Amino acid sequence: MRPHTGFLKVLPAALSLVTATPAGAQRPGLERRIDSLLAAMTLEEKLGQLNLLSANGQASPQQLQLVRAGKLGGLFNVIGAENTTPVQRIAVTESRLKIPLLFGLDVIHGYRTIFPIPLGEASSFDPDAAEATARAAGQEAAAFGINWTYAPMVDIARDPRWGRIAEGSGEDPYLGSLMAAARVRGFQQNIFATAKHFAGYGAAEAGREYNETEISERTMRETYLPPFKAAVDAGVASLMSAFNDIAGVPASGNAWLTDTVLRREWGFTGFVVSDWTSVAELVNHGVAGSQAEAGRRALTAGVDMDMQSGIYVDSLAALVRSNQIPPAVVDSAVMRILRAKQRLGLFRDPYRARTAPPTTDLRTLARRVAGESIVLLKNERSLLPLPKSGPIAVIGPLADNKEEPLGPWHTQGRGDDVVTVLQGIKAKVPGTAVLYAPGSGIEDTSTAGFAAAVTAARQAKVAILVLGERGDMSGEAASRSSLGLPGVQQQLLEAVAATRTPVVLVLMNGRPLILEWAADHVPAIVETWFLGVEAGNATADVLFGDVDPSGRLPVTFPRVLGQVPLYYNHRNTGRPPDVNNKYSSKYIDVPVTPRFPFGFGLSYTTFAYSNLKLSAARARASDSVTATVTVANTGNREGTEVVQLYVRDEVGSVSRPVRELKAFRRVALRPGESRTVELRIALRDLWFYGLDMKPVVEPGTFAVYVGPNSAEGLDVRFEVVP
Ligand code: NOJ
Repeated sequence: MRPHTGFLKVLPAALSLVTATPAGAQRPGLERRIDSLLAAMTLEEKLGQLNLLSANGQASPQQLQLVRAGKLGGLFNVIGAENTTPVQRIAVTESRLKIPLLFGLDVIHGYRTIFPIPLGEASSFDPDAAEATARAAGQEAAAFGINWTYAPMVDIARDPRWGRIAEGSGEDPYLGSLMAAARVRGFQQNIFATAKHFAGYGAAEAGREYNETEISERTMRETYLPPFKAAVDAGVASLMSAFNDIAGVPASGNAWLTDTVLRREWGFTGFVVSDWTSVAELVNHGVAGSQAEAGRRALTAGVDMDMQSGIYVDSLAALVRSNQIPPAVVDSAVMRILRAKQRLGLFRDPYRARTAPPTTDLRTLARRVAGESIVLLKNERSLLPLPKSGPIAVIGPLADNKEEPLGPWHTQGRGDDVVTVLQGIKAKVPGTAVLYAPGSGIEDTSTAGFAAAVTAARQAKVAILVLGERGDMSGEAASRSSLGLPGVQQQLLEAVAATRTPVVLVLMNGRPLILEWAADHVPAIVETWFLGVEAGNATADVLFGDVDPSGRLPVTFPRVLGQVPLYYNHRNTGRPPDVNNKYSSKYIDVPVTPRFPFGFGLSYTTFAYSNLKLSAARARASDSVTATVTVANTGNREGTEVVQLYVRDEVGSVSRPVRELKAFRRVALRPGESRTVELRIALRDLWFYGLDMKPVVEPGTFAVYVGPNSAEGLDVRFEVVP
C-alpha cells in the first residue's frame, strides 16, 4: 500500500469562496501539497480524477463503487444536498486518497427560481442584471449541493435556426463578452462556472445542431473567441469543449484551441471538460479509429476531464504505460483538477453547506430582470401601454401556460412556480373583465378553439395574443427549419385580427422568429422570450405601463428565413446593396435589411439624440476617446434608453465590419429631461487580426455612430495616428 499523504490533516484553510483569482494562482505551500497528493496517486487514480459521469438524480451503486475506488473526479445531475452529501462523504472518507468530488449541473438561468433565458436577459443590455441572476442562481444551487455549473454559454450565434441561440447572448462579441464576464463573476460568488462551448459551436452549418463549422482563424479570433477570453479574464474555473469540428478539426480534440490559444496565449490555468461524450464522438468525426485513440487525441489536445465517455478512465492507462501518452500530460490534467478543487475550498469544506437566498428576494430579482428583458418591437399609435380597464381578451396557447415560460434548461424549475401572463394581467387589473380563450395548441393543427377566441376578442376593447414556441423548441437539439409561429397560431392571429379589435401580440420564444405578417398587420408586438417564474407579472408590468420597456434586441430579426445568416456586424462587399443597381449585393425578392435590427427596441416615450462630439479628433492607439451625446426624453413618460456606440474602421489592410458595438449605456430619463451621455472607447479595443494574423489597431479614419440601434444614429469621425 502507498503511504497516505496526510494531505487533509495538514492542509491550511484553502480559499473558501470562489473568487476571481485565476485558478492555479495559489500559495506555494498549497501547491506543494497538491504536488505530494499527485505523487501519491496511482495511474488509475489519476485517470479517475479526469472522469466525470452523469447521475440520474442520485448516484447509482456502480457510481458509488467508482467513487470508493477513486475512479471518479466528479458527478453531475445529482439533485439535492441530501443526495450529494452522502456521495461526498464516501469520497472523503472511503476512497484511498479522500479527494472530494465536483458536483455539476446545468444551472443555466436559475436553479429552482428560473430567470429569463440568457438571450432574453442579454436584451436588457444590463450586465449587472446578468451578474445578479447568476449570483442568485449559484447561491440557490449551492444550497442544493451543487458546486459547479455548466454555464455561461458564451457562443456567438448568428443563425436563429440553431436552438441553442436561446442559451447565449446573441450575435455580438462585445455584448457577449460583457455578459460572459458578468455571469462568471456572478456564478463564482458561490459555485464554479464553465464557459462553453469552446469554440465555434454557434456557427453550426445551416443552423443544424452538432453540425460542422467552417470558421476562418480571423473570424474565430474576432467573433467567436472574445467572449471566452472575457470569461477567462474574469477568472472562470473551467471551459467546456464543443461538439463541432472547425474545418475538419473537432473542438474536443483541437490542440490549437485548448492548448495554443487557451493556455499559451491566454494563460488559462483552470481546466477543460469535454461536452457529453464529445471525446468518444471523435470516432464518428473520423479523426480517431478507436475509443482509446479518441481519448488520446482529446487528452493530449488539452481536454482534461472526460464527460460521460468513460474513455480516459477505461482506456488510457495502457496508452500511458506504453508511452503513447506522456505521463506528464496526465499529471498536468490531474493537477488542474486538483487545483480547481482546492480553489473551490473542497479539501477544507467538501460539503459546502450553503443557504439559499430568501424566495421573496429571488422572485423580486426575477421580476425586475424579466421586465428589463422585454423588447417592444412595434407600438402603432401608442396602443401600449394599455389602460387598466376592460374588457380585455387574453388569447393563445401560451397565455395561461405554466410550463413554457420556464424555457429550455430550467433544471429544477417548476411550472407551479410560474405566474402566467393571464395570471399577471388579472393581478394587475383586479375588477376588470378579462376574457380568456386558448384558441389553439402550440403545435396542434386543430382550429376548434378559434371561434371562442374570436368571440372573446369581439367582446373586448383589446385582444392580447400570447403566441410562440414551446420552451423545448429551443435549447439543445432543437434546430428548426422554419421560423414562423408553430402550428395554427398564425391563423389564430389572423382570425383574431380580423375582428378589428386592436391586437397586442406577446411573443414567447427562444430565438428570432419570422414575423412578416404580424409586423405588417398587428399594431403592437412585445417580445418576451422565456422570462421564467415571473413571466406573467413582468409582462403585465410592461403591458400596463408600470415598467417602461427597455430591452433591445441582442440578435437580428430577419424578414424571411432565406436571409439567414443575417447579422449587423458584417463586412461590406465590393458591391454594397443599392436599390437602383441590379448588380449589387442583394436579393431580387426581398430587401437586404432585417425586419428588426440588432440593438432595436422601442420605449413608451421617445428619445432624441443631438450634439455628438468626440474628446479628440486624433489619438494614438494607446489612448482612449470619449464620445459625448445629448439624449433627450421627448415624450411625456419616464423611460430608459440604451444609448449605443458603434465604430467602423473605414480603411484597413483587411475589410472591417460596417459597424461594431463598442460601448453602450442604459439611461433613465424623465419626461423633458435631457442628459449628456459619455461613452468611452479605449482605442486598443479597435484591434483586429491584420494580414499577418497578428492583432493590430491600424492608423486611419474611424467612423463613430451613436444612436438607438445598429441601423440608426448620429455619426462623427476620428483618426488613429501612429
Ligand atoms: C450537452 C450540452 O451540449 C452541454 O451544454 C451540457 O452542459 C451537457 N450536455 C451536460 O448536460
